[in-house]
Amino acid sequence: MADREASHTALATAYLRAAHQLLDAPPRILDDPIAVRLLGNAAPQKIHDEIERYQSAPARALRSHVVLRSRYTEDCLQAAQQRGITQYIILGAGFDTFALRQPAWAKSLKIFEVDHPGTQALKRSHLAAAALEMPANLAFAQIDFEHESLLDGLLRHGVSLDEPTLFSWLGVTMYLNEAAIDSALLSVAAFPSGSEIVLTFLQPPESASDAAPAQLAGRVAGAGEPFVSYFEPEAMAEKLTGAGFTKLEFLSPEDADTKYYKHRPTDLPVPRRTGIVSAIR
Ligand SMILES: C[S@@+](CC[C@H](N)C(=O)[O-])C[C@H]1O[C@@H](n2cnc3c(N)ncnc32)[C@H](O)[C@@H]1O
Repeated sequence: MADREASHTALATAYLRAAHQLLDAPPRILDDPIAVRLLGNAAPQKIHDEIERYQSAPARALRSHVVLRSRYTEDCLQAAQQRGITQYIILGAGFDTFALRQPAWAKSLKIFEVDHPGTQALKRSHLAAAALEMPANLAFAQIDFEHESLLDGLLRHGVSLDEPTLFSWLGVTMYLNEAAIDSALLSVAAFPSGSEIVLTFLQPPESASDAAPAQLAGRVAGAGEPFVSYFEPEAMAEKLTGAGFTKLEFLSPEDADTKYYKHRPTDLPVPRRTGIVSAIR
């Protein structure tokens, strides 16, 4: 990603969440009434103009992963809030809408959206165009994970290192080199005991049973944001325990099915490899 540029993939995942609201049957995995509005008036028509692509099997599989990771994270956040966390830090937030549609239980949290300056500027212009007001408990923090220590960046933006915190890091690790990932995990592990991170990672396309992961890698590379880091779950577990996290939960397809898919229509497939893990320290 060039220095001043906004992430194309952040916009692409925002369109997938909007498509989930417009195209998928209720009950949805993620109810997000702001997703479409944030993209602007032209978004519904844009999605309908490309309906064949949005309803293709690979697009439905990717959409399923994108809405599942947000839903799972928000469920972890609710549980974490009940056990006393006071800050929610969304790393690489893109067009995340949680702060704009936060339920009553979240109002006591301090929410920080951390992102690359280019992407954050684009999001803020969308917020203004949609006349969406910033909630009082939301702050923006511009941090480039590859050019500044996460801890330094968070301190610069008024984050308290003494408060138990939940971090989400969805759809980001695959774009960062391993040194930046390790450094960010160490920053997160510096927060008090009980703090948590929910992150997604990609398994190497070579170990997939179909060609979809390799095709996705080709598409994002074509958009100028190549995947650079892949991990098998065992390697990710080692990384997280090495950084100081003790309680790990990898969301399995079976658990995802039971929790989120079994009681709804079959228009979205359960991801075969979720690549979602929660880690508490
Ligand atoms: C695929 S998007 C995911 C956005 C959002 N988390 C979601 O689930 O829709 C990747 C995000 O990572 C951010 N990102 C990528 N490289 C970054 C870096 N070096 N520093 C900060 N953010 C970065 C992008 O700006 C973008 O918001």
